[in-house]
Amino acid sequence: MNHIPEILIHETLSMPVLGLGTWEMGGRHTPDRSQDNHWIDAIVSAIGLGIKHIDTAAIYGGGHTEKLVGQALSNFDRSRYFITTKVSGDNLQFGEVLRSAKASKNRLGVDQIDLLLLHWPNPATPISQTISAINKLLDDQVIRYFGLSNFPVELIREIGFYTDAPIITNQLEYNLFTRNNASYNRNIESEIIPFCLKNGISITAWRPVLKGDTSRVNHPLLQALAAKYTKTPFQIALNWLVHKPQLMAIPKMSSEAHIRENIEAVSFEMDKADLSQLDALGI
Ligand SMILES: NC(=O)c1ccc[n+]([C@@H]2O[C@H](COP(=O)([O-])OP(=O)(O)OC[C@H]3O[C@@H](n4cnc5c(N)ncnc54)[C@H](OP(=O)(O)O)[C@@H]3O)[C@@H](O)[C@H]2O)c1
Repeated sequence: MNHIPEILIHETLSMPVLGLGTWEMGGRHTPDRSQDNHWIDAIVSAIGLGIKHIDTAAIYGGGHTEKLVGQALSNFDRSRYFITTKVSGDNLQFGEVLRSAKASKNRLGVDQIDLLLLHWPNPATPISQTISAINKLLDDQVIRYFGLSNFPVELIREIGFYTDAPIITNQLEYNLFTRNNASYNRNIESEIIPFCLKNGISITAWRPVLKGDTSRVNHPLLQALAAKYTKTPFQIALNWLVHKPQLMAIPKMSSEAHIRENIEAVSFEMDKADLSQLDALGI
């Protein structure tokens, strides 16, 4: 079993710097049941290699992905694993949030959801309404914690008016080459991350290994550092990411080789000067 370093997120909650993403396991927006065993084996294999945090969402595979996560975890001691799921940005009205969380809980087959994120903001629904539903889910112990995904600074600030509950994380598209110009947000590295850290909100980086696109890691600096540390360029990119303060990365990985490669990537040290050179790549 490999050890994945953990960070203290909130009071007694510690989380590993590397979790497992599940987008496209069991379908994109609708269920694809043709490879269920493959995905369940992948999740079980990740757990066997030391993964303790699994990230999923109500919309993944039209709910089917949550079922696969539940099935994969069914033979393990649930209390040792942490599941994050998300309510769609299209379902942020009071009743919709309650219904979506309960449906996720049932599909996952758990008594309580560890962490529920608002998947993306929706200007059509007042955030006060969404947060009152979150408060109810916390009070009723349907969820242990709540957090955000793809949220900008002004909305995070507003949420503070409607709840005393901690915002555990803001899940953002963030990697070596996506710093301030992502699909949902601008100014991630320059504004959103510093604001979150100042306010005790951790960062979860989605798309941390650039979708495995090898053409993107051809950069000479990555190649040179890969040779220097005898690592792959993806390991260099992931190591740079998890060295950021209060940051967790959640690559989707289904091949055992990728799971091993990514776990190895989070537990070696690069020289500060090399990390600084990688910092400068995104400017
Ligand atoms: N909050 C949001 O809006 C949002 C949006 C998108 C994604 N997410 C979450 O973030 C997770 C990660 O993002 P993502 O899946 O879009 O992209 P990603 O993790 O950057 O890339 C996943 C792809 O990279 C491959 N891969 C994994 N490790 C690799 C390595 N070491 N070397 C080369 N290729 C590697 C995987 O292949 P194999 O599967 O074959 O191993 C898979 O094809 C998602 O699964 C999801 O849970 C959240």
